[in-house]
Amino acid sequence: MYPFLHLLNDGSLFIFADRSSEIFNVTSNCTIKTMPDLPGMHRTYPNTGGSVMLPLHMENNYEPEIMICGGGQAQAVDSRCDATCGRLKPFSVEPRWQITAMPEPRGMVEAVLLLDGTVLWLNGCQQGAQGFGLATEPALEALIYNPRRGNWSISGRSVIPRLYHSVALLLLDGTVLIARSNPNEMPITMSQVDVRDQSKAFPTDFRVEIYTPVYLRGANASSRPTDIKLSDRTYTANSTFEIEFIIRSKLETLDIILYSGGFVTHSVHMGQVMIYLEHSGWRVSNTGQTKVKACMPKGVKIAPGPYVVYVVANGVPGIGEFVTFKL
Ligand SMILES: *[C@@H]1O[C@H](CO)[C@@H](O)[C@H](O)[C@H]1NC(C)=O
Ligand SMILES: *[C@@H]1O[C@H](CO)[C@@H](O)[C@H](O)[C@H]1NC(C)=O
Ligand SMILES: *[C@@H]1O[C@H](CO)[C@@H](O)[C@H](O)[C@H]1NC(C)=O
Ligand SMILES: *[C@@H]1O[C@H](CO)[C@@H](O)[C@H](O)[C@H]1NC(C)=O
Ligand SMILES: *[C@@H]1O[C@H](CO)[C@@H](O)[C@H](O)[C@H]1NC(C)=O
Repeated sequence: MYPFLHLLNDGSLFIFADRSSEIFNVTSNCTIKTMPDLPGMHRTYPNTGGSVMLPLHMENNYEPEIMICGGGQAQAVDSRCDATCGRLKPFSVEPRWQITAMPEPRGMVEAVLLLDGTVLWLNGCQQGAQGFGLATEPALEALIYNPRRGNWSISGRSVIPRLYHSVALLLLDGTVLIARSNPNEMPITMSQVDVRDQSKAFPTDFRVEIYTPVYLRGANASSRPTDIKLSDRTYTANSTFEIEFIIRSKLETLDIILYSGGFVTHSVHMGQVMIYLEHSGWRVSNTGQTKVKACMPKGVKIAPGPYVVYVVANGVPGIGEFVTFKL
């Protein structure tokens, strides 16, 4: 029933259902290690929260860390959602959940990794559950969590309730597409909404929004790195490649990010992966033409398929470029 799954660096799977989790070896069909239960309410269907693998960085040896937020107590319309999150490093000798409070309770919440290393948590409700007509109190705030500092902020607010079956995906331009909501058994149009009847209290929503993270607000949007060129678009483990781009201001910080947005169903966002690639010092010509070498992460197994490479210069991302990773 919609467990949370994450592919870990050694090719094993982190599998989480309700409160319990384990590392599973698909090849040998064996549990490698069982994690302690995550305190708090139920975390998966019919009270799903959200789960994400935090960005993998060279500075902590690409050690994977899972973060799970929200959830609920019962499949009922009056059930208040969970307002806590847990973080856990599955590979540590004695994995422990580190609990952090969210600014508000959340069910059916979804996480999107942003290009400044923070996590956007959005969509869902503050009360109710998955199922038809069971979600109320739409959660409209865009919550930002900073994994390095472990703190939260609210950075934007929508007017559109997205209670269940909504989707949020990071786009090539670094903004986030947010779409859909349907907490009803059958589609309910705007004109059929009846707030006195919980089974018709919210419409089936077809409106689409774009969320602009802080790194593209104001003057940031016009200081993107441009003309990004990759020497290769097909990679295997340990591949190195060269990136060229143009930056008009003095280059102070540079991140090369490999990203896969994954896919979403039933408020469960799966397969999202973000890896900060190792790169060697950059060279800038006097026209602003910059060259840098990056390499695929050593010893990190990722699934074959399409990924996006983002160049983030002085904190501002350029337009992402699709690449293919082959085993
Ligand atoms: C999974 O099992 C296979 C077959 O027994 C083994 O070769 C592999 O090393 C195991 N992987 C992990 C991560 O334990
Ligand atoms: C894996 O193990 C389970 C339980 O131990 C068993 O029911 C199942 O048939 C096994 N699957 C495969 C593919 O061997
Ligand atoms: C975390 O704290 C820092 C320093 O006070 C602040 O700049 C930042 O906005 C806070 N929130 C997030 C999500 O980073
Ligand atoms: C530009 O991005 C930086 C870093 O993300 C942020 O601190 C700043 O507030 C942004 N500028 C605007 C006008 O939002
Ligand atoms: C990639 O690098 C790792 C660690 O350096 C090594 O164990 C592995 O064999 C390399 N893989 C390939 C395909 O070269």
